[in-house]
Amino acid sequence: MSVLPTLNLIGAGRVGQTLGRLWHAQGVLQLQDVLTTSAASAQAAVDFIGAGRPATALTGLRPADYCFIAVPDRQLAASAAALAQTPGLPPATAFHASGALAAAELAPLQARGWRIASAHCILSFATPATAVQQFAGTPCALEGEAAALAPLQALFSAIGAQCFTVPAEDKLLYHAAAVFGTNFLPVLQATAEALWQHSGVPPALLPRLRATLLRNAVDNLLALGPAGALTGPAARGDAALVQRQGQAVAQWDEQAGAAYAALSALAGRLARDGQL
Ligand SMILES: NC(=O)c1ccc[n+]([C@@H]2O[C@H](COP(=O)([O-])OP(=O)(O)OC[C@H]3O[C@@H](n4cnc5c(N)ncnc54)[C@H](OP(=O)(O)O)[C@@H]3O)[C@@H](O)[C@H]2O)c1
Repeated sequence: MSVLPTLNLIGAGRVGQTLGRLWHAQGVLQLQDVLTTSAASAQAAVDFIGAGRPATALTGLRPADYCFIAVPDRQLAASAAALAQTPGLPPATAFHASGALAAAELAPLQARGWRIASAHCILSFATPATAVQQFAGTPCALEGEAAALAPLQALFSAIGAQCFTVPAEDKLLYHAAAVFGTNFLPVLQATAEALWQHSGVPPALLPRLRATLLRNAVDNLLALGPAGALTGPAARGDAALVQRQGQAVAQWDEQAGAAYAALSALAGRLARDGQL
């Protein structure tokens, strides 16, 4: 019987539980210690993963081949510093899952001889239960020390991820792409709905407007691509209307007016050049 590499999990929320369960269920890694902020949440994570031992402190963690630090981004540096100071843990491979932050966030571990990397899966991990079902085929951006990347690629590929590498200096822009592609969509929709309400569209019609326009926009985008699906005054090159409309929006809300102007400029470039 072959012995699986071992994994300690520091942070086991949506991402930690999802990947932990997939690695365990598919016989890729042996889940060892699972550390969160409380005994109850660590136990709940272990229950969901189906393996591992709950832990409540770094001291007492057993040595492992891999340490996945799946805490929120703002906790990463402190967690890495604390792990680097933990006695009894020989250097291994540590990685985090942030899209925006580079492996260098784990520098205190690297200074102690650990190999460091980051592995960002482009999936909205809404809940571990849904993410486990949706994970196969997810693109996964790897970045970090060369010695860590090859084994991590094997770990992620084994559970169905499609791995590629991103340079450390491009991680902020790489992650900004996802912000444009997904996070801003609800903001644009909220702005449109506020403007409709402001201009007297009956609230009862908003759900229908939302569904129809969004669905058509997505269908057109998928069929025609961004440049082909672009419509509106900036796409038509109607600079006078863009300016008057921008001023009207700015009077309603200064930030929305600035967003209208910036997006109209990008729309004009997209219409003219077919790309940004
Ligand atoms: N959510 C996504 O869609 C998504 C997608 C791609 C990448 N990511 C990245 O994945 C990483 C984790 O995000 P997440 O969404 O899984 O976060 P999450 O659901 O909020 O889970 C965070 C986990 O970290 C634990 N934790 C917090 N501080 C800790 C500490 N000091 N020591 C030990 N454990 C600690 C929490 O413990 P408790 O359980 O006790 O609260 C929880 O288990 C982040 O780097 C994020 O950028 C997230």
